[in-house]
Amino acid sequence: MKNYSNIFSPTDKNLKKCSKILKNHGIAALPTETVYGLAGNAYSNRAVTKIYSLKKRPKKNPLIVHFDSLQSILKDTEQNPYLQKLYRKFSPGPITYVLKLKKKSKISKKLMNKNGTIACRVPANTYFRKIIRLTHAPLAAPSANISNHVSPTSSKDVFDEFGKKIKFILDGKQSKVGIESTVVNLVGRPKVLRPGKITKHEIQKVIKHVTKNISKEILSPGQLKKHYSPGIPVFLNQQKPKPGGALLVFGKTKLKGKNIFYLSKSKSLDECAKKLYLKLRQIKKLKYKTISVTKIPNQGIGIAINDRLKRASS
Ligand code: TXA
Ligand code: MG
Repeated sequence: MKNYSNIFSPTDKNLKKCSKILKNHGIAALPTETVYGLAGNAYSNRAVTKIYSLKKRPKKNPLIVHFDSLQSILKDTEQNPYLQKLYRKFSPGPITYVLKLKKKSKISKKLMNKNGTIACRVPANTYFRKIIRLTHAPLAAPSANISNHVSPTSSKDVFDEFGKKIKFILDGKQSKVGIESTVVNLVGRPKVLRPGKITKHEIQKVIKHVTKNISKEILSPGQLKKHYSPGIPVFLNQQKPKPGGALLVFGKTKLKGKNIFYLSKSKSLDECAKKLYLKLRQIKKLKYKTISVTKIPNQGIGIAINDRLKRASS
């Protein structure tokens, strides 16, 4: 049996304990509606350095900063013509805005992109926002996994990644969305850098001129090809498992066996996203050698699901 003594329930007392750790440059893993984040005070170079080292994350891959409101984003970033419209429609929620950092901002320079931009998100999770307010600082929080691993969607997944290396993991049940936020660059002509639950199409409806990132430069350094790897080979568009492997099914199959797992029997893409990382982790833990995945429709959040699966399989 694992000893989960660093997983805490979201009582008022524990939220205060968590903010105390964060105020003292410490690190805590927190739930969000997308995936769990590895949070540290965004003003603190010490905290940011710890995040990079815990995650084994390349220094050139910038971190997302989480704020509690639009007002607090505006304190640290330069005016932007699209932000308020998008914010009104989608935030708090699974979307991250890349904005120009104000020169006088106190946010740690260690976490920003080399072009002077930062990624800003207001998560829907109310405990997360409460902790931001208690800490009196925005919180840098990349997904709470070792670099290139699958993101965690529960407190126990976080424990599997870091064990007792982090003092505090806040328990917030299974993440509802299950895959990382949509990242949209709002500096210059808007571009979706990472697909997510909120689609390019939905963003386009709110602001015109949104295009898929066609630039050769990798604008989100985290969007490198090898990413989101469950640690065993993944094969896409399959109908049956490989010998010794598991099959992950969207919809139904006539195949039976312990190695058949379902993403959504009712073909709900939202359910599929919610279960994706959970199932990838579960199959790996059960020691199957490969994961074959059936075809998943490339629409809505399915675009983001296929994006993550493609990276997992490369
Ligand atoms: O849903 C999410 O976004 C989760 C939760 C915890 O909020 N966080 C998350 O963080 O997925 P992370 O660090 O795993 O992914 C952040 C992505 C990376 O691809 C990174 O390169 C990109 O956002 N990014 C961060 N700052 C950026 C910037 N200034 N410009 C462009 N891309 C940026
Ligand atoms: Mg990540």
